[in-house]
Amino acid sequence: MKVGVLGSGGVATTLASGFLKHGHQVMLGSRTPEKLKDWATANSKGKTGTFADTAEFGEVVVVAVKGSAASEALRRAGEANLAGKVVIDSCNPIDESAPPSNGVLKFFTSPNESLMEELQKQFADAHMVKAFNSVGAPFMVDPQFEGGKPTMFICGNDAGAKKTVTGILDQFGWETADMGGAEAARAIEPLCMLWCIPGFLRNEWTHAFKLLKK
Ligand SMILES: NC(=O)c1ccc[n+]([C@@H]2O[C@H](COP(=O)([O-])OP(=O)(O)OC[C@H]3O[C@@H](n4cnc5c(N)ncnc54)[C@H](OP(=O)(O)O)[C@@H]3O)[C@@H](O)[C@H]2O)c1
Repeated sequence: MKVGVLGSGGVATTLASGFLKHGHQVMLGSRTPEKLKDWATANSKGKTGTFADTAEFGEVVVVAVKGSAASEALRRAGEANLAGKVVIDSCNPIDESAPPSNGVLKFFTSPNESLMEELQKQFADAHMVKAFNSVGAPFMVDPQFEGGKPTMFICGNDAGAKKTVTGILDQFGWETADMGGAEAARAIEPLCMLWCIPGFLRNEWTHAFKLLKK
C-alpha cells in the first residue's frame, strides 16, 4: 500500500520506518519537511513532503502529531486528500499546560468525548480508526514481550477501514481488539494515561496491554 504518515516525532518516524520494513511505499510529512532529513537518510526508500503532499500520496494516512494540533494537521493535509481514505489516528489529547498528577496525565477532553470523535466530525469523509495510541513508540512495530503478542485496541465507524488496520496490525505483530464505533475512543484514548503511569512513577516504560479471553 501507499502510506502517508503525518508527523515528525517518534511515533511518525517509527511507524513510517515500520511500514517501509513491511514492504509498503511511504511518505513522511511535516510542516517543515527539511526537518525529516535524518529520517530520509536512514530510510532511502521513503519519501518526505508537506502534510498535503503526504495525505495526497497515501492510500492509507496516519496522523501522529501532538493531540492539540491534530485538527490543524489534518486541515493542512487537506479534506479532499483524506476523503474516502483510511486515516489511522495515533494521537492522544494530552493537555500539556499541566504536569502529570502523581503520574496521571491530564487530558483536554472529558470522559464522554474523545479527540477522534471530534476529528471524525470535522473530517466526515475520512474513515478514521484509532490505533497505536496505547503503547510507547519503541514497541509499535514487531513488539517482543515475554507474555506473547500484545493487544492493540482499535475503534472506528467504517468496517472496511478497521479490516485494513487489522491487516496492518497483524503484519506489525499485534493482535487486534475491535471495540466498535468511534465513541469507543473515549475508552481507548485514556489507555495512554494508564500506560504512562508506571513510567512517570517508576521509570518503567517497557510494557504493553493484553486482553485475555476464556
Ligand atoms: N511518544 C509516544 O511514545 C506515543 C505513544 C502513543 C501515542 N502517542 C501520541 O502520538 C502523537 C505523536 O506523538 P510524538 O511523540 O511522536 O510527537 P509529538 O511531539 O507529540 O508531536 C510532534 C508533531 O506534532 C506536530 N505539530 C505540533 N504543533 C503543530 C501545529 N500547530 N500544527 C500542526 N502540527 C503540529 C509537529 O509537526 P511538524 O512536523 O510540522 O513540526 C510534529 O509532527 C501524540 O498525539 C502522542 O500523544 C505518542
